[in-house]
Amino acid sequence: MNEMLILRELCKTYQSNSTRVNALRGISMAVDSGELVAVMGPSGCGKSTMLNLIAGLDTPTDGEIYLADKRIDILNETERAIVRRRHIGVVFQAFNLIGNLTVADNVELPALIAGFSSKQARARREKLLEQLGIADKARAVPANLSGGEQQRVAIARALVNTPQVLLADEPTGNLDTENSREVMTLLSQYNVEGQTIVIVTHNHVVASCASRIIHIRDGLVANETRVDVKGDHKSVLSRLISLEVQ
Ligand SMILES: Nc1ncnc2c1ncn2[C@@H]1O[C@H](COP(=O)(O)OP(=O)(O)OP(=O)(O)O)[C@@H](O)[C@H]1O
Ligand SMILES: [Mg+2]
Repeated sequence: MNEMLILRELCKTYQSNSTRVNALRGISMAVDSGELVAVMGPSGCGKSTMLNLIAGLDTPTDGEIYLADKRIDILNETERAIVRRRHIGVVFQAFNLIGNLTVADNVELPALIAGFSSKQARARREKLLEQLGIADKARAVPANLSGGEQQRVAIARALVNTPQVLLADEPTGNLDTENSREVMTLLSQYNVEGQTIVIVTHNHVVASCASRIIHIRDGLVANETRVDVKGDHKSVLSRLISLEVQ
């Protein structure tokens, strides 16, 4: 098994009173284990809807989702929450940290909920904050951090349970050039170490860090671009050095 994530003919229709929106109209794709895939497409084409369905935050109207060979779209809400906590990490554009918890608690909480002991959760948090260069912020609250620091906390939180896949929805959308470069460097490093990542972005340079770019239009996969043969760590980093955020 080399495919970590498979979407088959995924459809999502939002229905409210008199309005009906066909957000996804049959999306199919496969993401290999260890791949970094970028998803691009115009506003409203269904990118966030797709990530939300993979994360089990919502259910598809039709189609199938497999994570590591396990079909996850047919699980009930409780089962989906367990899969999300244990096997999927999610990073959002707006960071979505818990404002009245410290950085340390924000990162440890998902580990505790997933059943790790407080000692294990602390060890995981310490390692991640160290790797992400924010160990000195462990006792701070999110409001006292820069945007780039908050996004690094969100990445630590998303990775604390060593997820099978990391989903990132516009992770650099609220960041300036320097912080975007930093965040993409960190995500690329985790990818080089084997982390499977799906990243939604409007930014072509951010997308160029991926090995494959999937373009979505009107709820369907329009086409796919291979960036080049996946570079080694050095070439990924050299590409990031020229990262310019539009
Ligand atoms: N909860 C909802 N109820 C009804 N319609 C929704 C809901 N969420 C999204 N939509 C609609 O579904 C379509 C796809 O939205 P989605 O948020 O997935 O787009 P997107 O590609 O992420 O856009 P953006 O790049 O602006 O973030 C849009 O037409 C949007 O208005
Ligand atoms: Mg979106």
